[in-house]
Amino acid sequence: MAVPPLAESLSDAVVAALATAGVAEVAPRIRRSQHADFQADGVLTSAGALRRDPRALAAEVAAALPTGDRLAAARVAGPGFVNLDLTDRALLDQLAARLTDPRLGVGRPESGVTTVVDYSQPNVAKEMHVGHLRSTVIGDALVRTLEHLGGDVVRRNHLGDWGTQFGMLIQHRFEHPDESGAMADLMALYRAAQALFRSDAAFADRARRRVVALQAGDPATLAAWRAMVDESTRYFSEIYERLGVRLTAADAVGESAYNDALPGVADELAAAGIAVLSDGALCVFTDFAATPLIVRKSDGGFGYAATDLAAIRQRVGALAADRILYVVDARQSLHFRLVFETARRAGWLPSTVDAVHVPFGTVLGRDGRPFRTRDGDTVPLRDLLDDAVDRARVVVADKNPDLTGAALDDRARAVGIGAVKYADLATGRTRDYVYDPDRMLALTGDTGVYLQYAHARVRSILARAGGTRPTVDPTASLHPAERALILDLDAFAETLSDVVTTYEPHRLCAYLHRLAQTFTTFYDRCPVLRASGAARANRLALCHLTGDTFHTGLSLLGIEAPDQL
Ligand code: ARG
Repeated sequence: MAVPPLAESLSDAVVAALATAGVAEVAPRIRRSQHADFQADGVLTSAGALRRDPRALAAEVAAALPTGDRLAAARVAGPGFVNLDLTDRALLDQLAARLTDPRLGVGRPESGVTTVVDYSQPNVAKEMHVGHLRSTVIGDALVRTLEHLGGDVVRRNHLGDWGTQFGMLIQHRFEHPDESGAMADLMALYRAAQALFRSDAAFADRARRRVVALQAGDPATLAAWRAMVDESTRYFSEIYERLGVRLTAADAVGESAYNDALPGVADELAAAGIAVLSDGALCVFTDFAATPLIVRKSDGGFGYAATDLAAIRQRVGALAADRILYVVDARQSLHFRLVFETARRAGWLPSTVDAVHVPFGTVLGRDGRPFRTRDGDTVPLRDLLDDAVDRARVVVADKNPDLTGAALDDRARAVGIGAVKYADLATGRTRDYVYDPDRMLALTGDTGVYLQYAHARVRSILARAGGTRPTVDPTASLHPAERALILDLDAFAETLSDVVTTYEPHRLCAYLHRLAQTFTTFYDRCPVLRASGAARANRLALCHLTGDTFHTGLSLLGIEAPDQL
């Protein structure tokens, strides 16, 4: 049995003390406090419900908590909180237990739960942009954390690989057979085809007939479509690989995959009376949205909504999802409310299955407007990553003048890519943030590089100490900076649980950033290599555990943590 986090053991103790004081069925919250190691609430609310004086009740709870080996003191605080202090012994026992646990005290609360995560979702024949970057890195961090907590995760890259735009794209290709089909040229093709579609009515007509041919499965049309999808998928895979994101071609189940299911979706909804005809379109009306969800357009075509409905049916049915996460920008939140509501009514999304839109804010340029090139185009992700790695090379070379060649390239990549991902992940998920390469590569502040350096510094201390893992001496007494570090390290498991209950990876970023600061204070106040005896062993143990926590934490964010920088 893994040793539970201190806050959890304390929570159990407070529940027992509350029971002694005559209060049952409350889940007290145990929080870190400035005035004690922890503070328990929970007394306040129950006192109100039981019409008892909160301070008197808190005093009873405090008195019922056994102090001794582990609990040093339990005192009433404020209007009815209980402040809890632990003994050095309790903290050192905890440190010793964590040091020998490769999971760092993290359990597997997600085991037996299947989560489908729909993320990344770029569009074929279009450049991936910063919005797709957000979906990709947030989705990847959630996937990694869910899996680390024991969950079964199915990744779904819901590629935009279907729709009427393929009519004009394919038609244009057929009319200009000399043009290459490479990704860079597909972008140009998109622009050219779109311009022609708007200005040339005859071309627009041919493009529309091409859509019909595509849907009817005309072999030449289908082959041209497939070539575009393949070329784009190759390009996206390259980006995923550079980003170190765990998405492969096998996870790409694009919109086209649901095509055959769309008529059935519409028919079932119509037969059940959930969808009704309105101006020729098959619509689902709700009382919360001014506009209906359009399942089938008046021309008989299906769109984005029908595809998402078919996907839910498949994810709940064939994939046996307990939870489906959609990491998609915040502007699509009404779409998802409508889709989920429709699927609930149709019985495709039973109440036992959670469907959650995990929205994120917009990436802005330094001018505070959505991040674009001067011509208003989206900035290709590939260029952004190249730029970040180039800047990182300067930062790394500056710190390490001896580093050259492949070794320099390797670190520049880890730092540059890490910087981009961290900047994205560290921002509150639903907030907009400014894409600022200078700031994201700063060595101090809330950046990926700062954390990578903090990790490398711990590793270098350990390398200088040499030898194996120390044995903790639980009888030593602790410096306040050591106590603070043990308490922060012990909050790792809870932080990861928070990430998967709120779907907010920035909580892990904030945790690691705070840990780096706590470690810095510890290292300033408590000499490690110059210490001896029990102090040295215990401090080295703290360095080991800090290094491992940084490493695991960063890897759950999808960020590399090299031992040297
Ligand atoms: N491809 C869409 C876009 O680029 C996002 C798709 C989101 N996923 C979904 N299941 N609807 O905006």
